[in-house]
Amino acid sequence: MPTQSATTLELYQRNVIPSYGRLPLTLARGAGVRVWDENGRAYLDFAAGIAACSLGHAPAALQKALAEQAATLLHTSNLFYTRPQGELAALLNQLIDIPGKIFFCNSGGEANEGLYKLARKHGSAHGRYEIITLENSFHGRTLAGIAATGQKKVKIGFEPLVSGFVHAMPTLESVQSALSERTAAILVEPLQGEGGVRPLDPAFLRGLRDLCNAHGLLLLYDEIQCGLGRTGHWCGWHATGAAEAIPDGISWAKGLGGGVPIGAFWAREPYADLLGPGTHATTFGGSPLICTAALAVLNTIVEQDLLTNARERGAQLIDAVKGLPLVRDVRGAGLLIGIEIADFAPAENESGTPALRLTRRLIEAGLLVAPAGEKTIRLLPPLNVSAQECEEAAEILRGVLALVKPVV
Ligand SMILES: Cc1ncc(COP(=O)(O)O)c(C=O)c1O
Repeated sequence: MPTQSATTLELYQRNVIPSYGRLPLTLARGAGVRVWDENGRAYLDFAAGIAACSLGHAPAALQKALAEQAATLLHTSNLFYTRPQGELAALLNQLIDIPGKIFFCNSGGEANEGLYKLARKHGSAHGRYEIITLENSFHGRTLAGIAATGQKKVKIGFEPLVSGFVHAMPTLESVQSALSERTAAILVEPLQGEGGVRPLDPAFLRGLRDLCNAHGLLLLYDEIQCGLGRTGHWCGWHATGAAEAIPDGISWAKGLGGGVPIGAFWAREPYADLLGPGTHATTFGGSPLICTAALAVLNTIVEQDLLTNARERGAQLIDAVKGLPLVRDVRGAGLLIGIEIADFAPAENESGTPALRLTRRLIEAGLLVAPAGEKTIRLLPPLNVSAQECEEAAEILRGVLALVKPVV
């Protein structure tokens, strides 16, 4: 059998569509903040499934929830009611503490699709359908997601793009000049993740809220990366300092499932009933298995006060990284941290952006991180990472950065 003799890399090369630029590492298992490769070497995982594994690897609460629910009821479709979906929606509403309702789906891209449909439904009676998004944003890889995303590289080769998305710079003047009688909504990531970990200015967010109020637009937050505890707050926009800039819609995914695939979007009253029966649906969204898992994740974050841990460990990491050689800027909140680096001289046979080259060197030294843009690496450890694990990661970073030579 070829599957027995081929290496994992060979299996991928022959059988998997090569749409990802993967890092040279095959992971076989994980526990807590550590993962092991196929040869049994351990790594400290500060990429955490790109901010998805909120409780680390193989957390007991998630194992128990999944095993018990798998033995009870896996999936029913949304033709029927199941208790876990109702309970998860109620818990999310309680945590964000703003009256609204929730739709469950399976990924971040799909959660944003729901927000686009909410915006179009909101504007449809008045011929409004355009959504303003920001330059440098990232909203996923669906066809509408790449139209919404403010980065050229995701659009190339997929034209014609879905119409109805207009990009603006993160200034009120720029957003104002993008407004038209067709505008239905404004969608932003309060902390841009893939675009290099860039928190939006709180005055800008407040200004967007005022603009939306003045023109009857929906203010939508993509909190797929920055929401639900990652920044040390349930609401990612609170981390920017603009807690009062309350949105009309929010998308979530990643950390909500702690590693199992789930997406969701929330709509504030009175917009929560815009999508009535028959207007939006997915077969797997909100399955009892996945909702039970997400309940276990959120309850653990509450019980173990992991928001406080995220804020404290984040401050520890930022302190440890500031001032290291090559580091030009450290941005972020909680455990969504971006380290912007200067370019450095590549070794022989080393290719790619500075962020990618540093990421590969850190892997070799035993630390997994996630690149974001050309010059930024992200530290996104599980929310229950310990002070000692953060110090261990900082030690690896110090060791690797001490050996690089900046390009002058
Ligand atoms: C802010 C943001 N929006 C949307 C997405 C897309 O989510 P998914 O990859 O689950 O479709 C991502 C993923 O990185 C993201 O960071």
